Amino acid sequence: MSENVSTAEFASVEDVVERLAEQGYIADRRLATAVFLLARLNRPVLLEGPAGVGKTELAKALAKATGRRLLRLQCYEGQDESKALYEWDYGKQLLYTQLLRDKIGEIIADAPDLATAVERIGAQDSVFFSDRFLAPRPLLEAIRSEEPVLLLIDEVDRADEALEAVLLECLAEQQVSVPEIGTYTAKTPPYVILTSNNTRDLSAALKRRCLYLFLDYPDAERELEIVMGKRTGLAEATARELVRIVRELRGLRLRKHPSISETVDWARTLAVLGVQELSAEVLADTVNVVLKYERDIGLALEALPRLVDPNRNVLEEAAHGHGHGHGHGHGHGHGHGHGHDHDHAHDHGGGHHGADVLDVDDDVDGAAVREAKDRPGRHGENYYGGRGQGIKPRTDAGGGQARRAFAAIGRRNR
Ligand SMILES: Nc1ncnc2c1ncn2[C@@H]1O[C@H](COP(=O)(O)OP(=O)(O)OP(=O)(O)O)[C@@H](O)[C@H]1O
Ligand SMILES: [Mg+2]
Repeated sequence: MSENVSTAEFASVEDVVERLAEQGYIADRRLATAVFLLARLNRPVLLEGPAGVGKTELAKALAKATGRRLLRLQCYEGQDESKALYEWDYGKQLLYTQLLRDKIGEIIADAPDLATAVERIGAQDSVFFSDRFLAPRPLLEAIRSEEPVLLLIDEVDRADEALEAVLLECLAEQQVSVPEIGTYTAKTPPYVILTSNNTRDLSAALKRRCLYLFLDYPDAERELEIVMGKRTGLAEATARELVRIVRELRGLRLRKHPSISETVDWARTLAVLGVQELSAEVLADTVNVVLKYERDIGLALEALPRLVDPNRNVLEEAAHGHGHGHGHGHGHGHGHGHGHDHDHAHDHGGGHHGADVLDVDDDVDGAAVREAKDRPGRHGENYYGGRGQGIKPRTDAGGGQARRAFAAIGRRNR
């Protein structure tokens, strides 16, 4: 696949979808359109979204799909511009002065005084502050590169605002100036992808420069396609069921929702264990693959039995005359009669729909209790797309989860 990569421009949005798919990246139309425009208008794309939804992966896949070299600037707190633009290679300068000691000695040998000696050494500055001793960092490297590159500025929200300003200038001008040498201008403008986890607001100036795309959890079909594309070894029917359950877990009030990569990991884990059919027990045993907080695991363990069998609570509820059905962490696993309560199950549309209805019920009952237990963490409501997206009553049963979450976050960010 990657041997005969076409470096031609993308012909259309469909072409983007196809060429990314060849690299194992499943893109929907919205994402593909942003990529198409990135290439056509040469505008940077800013990808924002929760962890593990394929932001970084998109840059990697796009680099491969277009035959561009990938340059990555990983941002972090306290990073200064020397790590983004360039540094002088101090070690190399020192080594050269050591080796050239005699030569340097000659230059200043007959200097009558210190000031003259310093003058003479100063006249050699340009030798030591030249291209040879320049250590380019990703931004300068992207600008200087002879071949077309893709510059990934990863997790830009972690960088300080000062660095953001440097990035902005560099992106706007497509050039970097090194006072001792001169100004480098891009021969072929790099494709630029910036990613952010939304830990802080980026400047309006940066956003204005970029095409903005919020990358959310995909819909069920696309997530299944991604999982199947990873060749986890899990049968398709089981993977489909797993995707459904992961999506239900995302509807719980978890501190950290399972990401796509975690769905893939879970599928792999279950395949290794030889699981053919998902049961609450096997999911409970392996849920630590996708959830990494004790409290989240607790919530999931409570929810799994009814997520695996969405009809369970509908039937239980009906049997209890529509009680709250809470405090029943016990006694699951008894066969439920299919012979009765038909009408109820069907009212809710059965299957997936039934689970949606139950989620609402669960949240009505448990929300206050959990809210009280849930101390605010290090991050604000917006972090990782915010907690508790699932508490809103669900009105549609289909693949609207991602869209709803997107709309909610979009509203908050506006
Ligand atoms: N659309 C997709 N097609 C194929 N694989 C995907 C897709 N989205 C996510 N993945 C898988 O999920 C993994 C995690 O994605 P990635 O590292 O890009 O997440 P991210 O959004 O950059 O997360 P973070 O914010 O934590 O850095 C990838 O290695 C890839 O295997
Ligand atoms: Mg990433």
